[in-house]
Amino acid sequence: MVRPAGKQSCGRVVLVSCLALLAAGLIADFLWASSHPFSSAGMSLPSSFTTVIGKLPPNSDEKDSKKKKDNARERKLSATFQDLAAPQLQWEKMAAAPVPRLDGAAIQIRNFLYVFAGYGNINLVHSHVDIYNFVDNTWGGRFDMPREMAHSHLGMVTDGRYIYIVTGQYGPQCRGPTAKTFVLDTDTNTWSDFTPLPVPRYAPATQLWRGRLHVMGGSKENRHTPGLEHWSIAVKDGKALEKEWRSEVPIPRGGPHRACVVVDDRLFVIGGQEGDFMAKPGSPIFKCSRRMEVVFSDVYMLDEEMKWKVMPSMPKPDSHIEFAWKVVNNSIVIVGGTTEKHPETKKMVLVGEIFQFNLNTMKWYVIGKLPYRVKTTLVGYWDGQIYFTSGQRDKGPDDPAPRKVVAEMWRTKLILSP
Ligand SMILES: *[C@@H]1O[C@H](CO)[C@@H](O)[C@H](O)[C@H]1NC(C)=O
Repeated sequence: MVRPAGKQSCGRVVLVSCLALLAAGLIADFLWASSHPFSSAGMSLPSSFTTVIGKLPPNSDEKDSKKKKDNARERKLSATFQDLAAPQLQWEKMAAAPVPRLDGAAIQIRNFLYVFAGYGNINLVHSHVDIYNFVDNTWGGRFDMPREMAHSHLGMVTDGRYIYIVTGQYGPQCRGPTAKTFVLDTDTNTWSDFTPLPVPRYAPATQLWRGRLHVMGGSKENRHTPGLEHWSIAVKDGKALEKEWRSEVPIPRGGPHRACVVVDDRLFVIGGQEGDFMAKPGSPIFKCSRRMEVVFSDVYMLDEEMKWKVMPSMPKPDSHIEFAWKVVNNSIVIVGGTTEKHPETKKMVLVGEIFQFNLNTMKWYVIGKLPYRVKTTLVGYWDGQIYFTSGQRDKGPDDPAPRKVVAEMWRTKLILSP
């Protein structure tokens, strides 16, 4: 008599934990969908979600759970609590890019913004370059990238003519990275191969400094684990002057999606995150699944001593800004990004401000509001105006979670703090 009862309650425990696990799994999926790049996925819950919730065993103490719920509601933070006060700016909408892009890359050379790669949607990646001309505000000059080049999470930098394109993710969803590295000569629009990185990375910080191409941080091969390694190789006119990459002083904190900027012979690494979406184990399409990331506001600087120094932090944590910056008048200007997830909903929260790091005073300022919150913007500067295009925008003024991948191009007069 004891036995069947024992068995039954054991069975119930198993059932409950199975349902709990299932629910947890679906909630994780839902979080991915809601923080997910692509509108259709983010719009509605899978019907199974509601079904399973309905099937969950009713709580024996309903009063108690009701009390808990009410408390939770009282504690509920505004979805937009991370927005900062900032001046409103006059934004002008320019010609949209030929394709929408998330996690693309961009390099400005004179009056041209070269825009590379990126996801069009989670199952489609671009493998070409589009060019915006700031003089007549038109797009054109499309040409293909090499077939072997990564399609997102690239490291990229220019010396003013040659663009170095280092490692990155190869293919859509959450596929693996490639270590393959290339050079584009923008005078002739011709590509050449370059020494592959010792191991592949996702979205490593990349810069040219003191005659060397530096690559550091990013995510390791599983897309999630932060890498601390830092390599460099001597370069000139698009060619490596050495046979191998050399190991350099590791960065204090690893991870992808940071701004890496050289000004006045100092190298800055700004913001970024630890952790990222990973491929679902066993998924034949490497389906992206959410892993909790930690976004940070840290700023590190490397000077001739080759020791990392801690600089004043950003006004708030900011990631997905690797091509979202420009240097203007000894200030680093950063447009949009992602900040820490919402503590209640755990949804990804986009950034709707422009930041300025004034290198004369070593102070940060919030210098303006964007037309919407947006991450992985591609930024240019021309004739007193700051431009941004592409990326993934928010759901609306009251919902900072990511939704639509955009092609729009916007500009406004840049007003810096002295
Ligand atoms: C940068 O400095 C120049 C020279 O002082 C000034 O004319 C220009 O307005 C400044 N640009 C911005 C965006 O502040």
